[in-house]
This record gives sequence, C-alpha cells and structure tokens, in this order.
Amino acid sequence: MTDKNENIYTVISTPNIALVKYWGKRKPQQLNLPNNSSVSMTLSSDALKTKTSVALNPNSKDDEVYINGVMQQRNSSEKTNFIFNIIEEMRGLSKYNNKLLVVSENSFPTGSGLASSASGAAALVFALNTALKLNLSTRELSIISRKISGSACRSVIGGFVFWEKGLKEDGSDSYARQIVQTDYWDLVDIIGIIDSNTKKVSSSEGHALTSKTSSLYKERIKFAESNALIAEKAIKDKDFSTLSEVIMRDSNNMHATMLDTWPPIRYITDKSWDALQAILELNKSHGENIAAYTFDAGPNIHVITEQKHSIEVKKLITELLGDENKIIFSKIGNGPTIINDGALIGESLTPII
Ligand code: PMV
Repeated sequence: MTDKNENIYTVISTPNIALVKYWGKRKPQQLNLPNNSSVSMTLSSDALKTKTSVALNPNSKDDEVYINGVMQQRNSSEKTNFIFNIIEEMRGLSKYNNKLLVVSENSFPTGSGLASSASGAAALVFALNTALKLNLSTRELSIISRKISGSACRSVIGGFVFWEKGLKEDGSDSYARQIVQTDYWDLVDIIGIIDSNTKKVSSSEGHALTSKTSSLYKERIKFAESNALIAEKAIKDKDFSTLSEVIMRDSNNMHATMLDTWPPIRYITDKSWDALQAILELNKSHGENIAAYTFDAGPNIHVITEQKHSIEVKKLITELLGDENKIIFSKIGNGPTIINDGALIGESLTPII
C-alpha cells in the first residue's frame, strides 16, 4: 500500500532503558505483573524506534499483523497471541466491528535485548487507540501495553518513568507514571552493541525460571524495591552520584539472580564484562562516578551519563568495541508520537545496526 490514506494511523515509539530492573513475575503470570517496582528512561526516536501503522480493513476476513515484513500467525507464539488478544480487547472497547491491518517495523534487531517488544507494544497500543478513536488515558494505555510485554508499560510515557508494581491480582494498580519530563535532566544512554543476535533464553522464559528457582530472588525483590525509591529521589534531586551507584548495583544484582537460576542463565559475555570494567576504571580515574553501566536481558552495554561527559564515554566504548557503527547514542525521548499525515504503511525504517 503506497497511497496516502486517511484510514491509516501511524505511531512512532521507542524502547526504554531500565535503571532499576523488572525481573520475575507474580501471579497471574499472563498479566505481566512484577514483584518489584522499576524505574526507566524512555529513549529518543533518533536512536531506536518502532513504527506501527494500523488501518481499518473492513473487507478482510481476519485481522492481519505484519512485523518486520513477516505475517504473524495467531497461536504461533505467546507474544503473537498477546498481540491478537490486545487487538480484540481494544476493538471490543470501540464502536468498530470490522477487521484491522497492523504493520510494524523496528529500526533495530528484534529479540536481541534492545527492548524491541517494549517499543513495539507501546506503538501498537497507541496506534490502536488512535485508529479506534478510544481516547484512553496514559494510565489505561500503560496497563494494556503491559499485557504484551511488562516493560512496555514504561514506554508509553516520555522522560523518567516509575512503574508501580501494584498489589491487585487484576493488575489495575500496576502501571507506569512519569517522574519528571524529558528535558528535566540531560542524561544520555550510550549503547555498545556487543552482540545483536537473538538471545538464547527469551525474557519470558527467564522471568519464570528465575522467580521459580533462584534462592537469591527473595532478596532481589526487596533490594530492587528500595532501589526504585532511591532512584526516583536521585532523579528528582539530579544526584548522579547516588543514581549511578543504584543503576550499576541493580544491574549486577539482577544478573546475579539470573546466574543463580537453575539451569543458570547468563546474558552477559566476557566482552560485556570488559566494558563494565572499563566504566569502573573511568569512574576511578575521575575520582567520582561520571558514568553508570547497565545490562538488560542481553550482552549489550548501556552507559548512562550526563551530556557533558558523553564524548569521553562514547570514545571509550568505541575504542573498546573497535567499531563506531556498534555505538547507538540516545537522548531521553518523549514517548509515542502519532503521525497524522496518512503515512505510508509498510514503509521501511532504515536499520540502525
Ligand atoms: O518486558 P520484558 O518481559 O521484555 O522484560 C524486560 C526485562 C529487563 O529488560 C531485563 C528489565 C526491564 O525492567 O526492562
């Protein structure tokens, strides 16, 4: 489809990087309810992004979903089921009874620990909200996107974000809220791509296995909950010294419970460890923390720093990885953006890596 069409609704959305991580789910598992609150920074769209278009498709027999050019089959995986269920759930809230066409593309590899599902889920939920004229609140959109991928509930909001773990079984009190907006503090995320292949253990498998088998996990929940509160305050106070230590120790702690999982899960590689050491050395040479490393469910390093140190940090990571093309530089982003120009559905995004 290449014509401009007023029935096409397009949204650009971005991943977020967790500064205090969500790992492990409480019951009922299918609602992606966390055991602890978490804190993140939404990334800017000049770095990593998902573009999702939704078109009303009244003559089709079924809903059609394409991700990165591949038609998705219902029941082919847990994730695709979630997507089709969300389409049904949101259509059920609207006055529209016919089928929908969804086309979604990432500018970066899916399933490589770069939070493609968070970005994709936020874009989908926003695009459906627009196409179906639902006018749902940010809180409602956060709750719906959480059901596709837990961390997606943080990508529906820009700036610095706090995901309240909530206590209710129906998940109605487990949603993200903004701590402060995008331009409050000029932190950046410098991502070093150590490996962009699909991870061997998906995050959904990892969440389940760690919470079931790790003996350290009980401590992790308490530690992370208190980290989330400390991080929120440090962000409001622009206190990098406190925030950087929380970011690094929370990442270490989550990866320790992954290693303590049975069978053990190891996302970081020897190269990730070298990059981690380089950040510790950098901080030592400055006599204070000027950068913080963090790793999600993958080997790629995210280095959080203030804009004023970004050239130095970028240079260090580039030297370490030996290739400028392996660096992604991201500022803080504003969250999903609706493009109201009848944008071309299926238009390719240039892969960023
Ligand atoms: O939302 P999921 O199921 O992809 O899990 C994300 C888990 C981490 O990225 C490791 C941590 C986080 O809070 O984003």
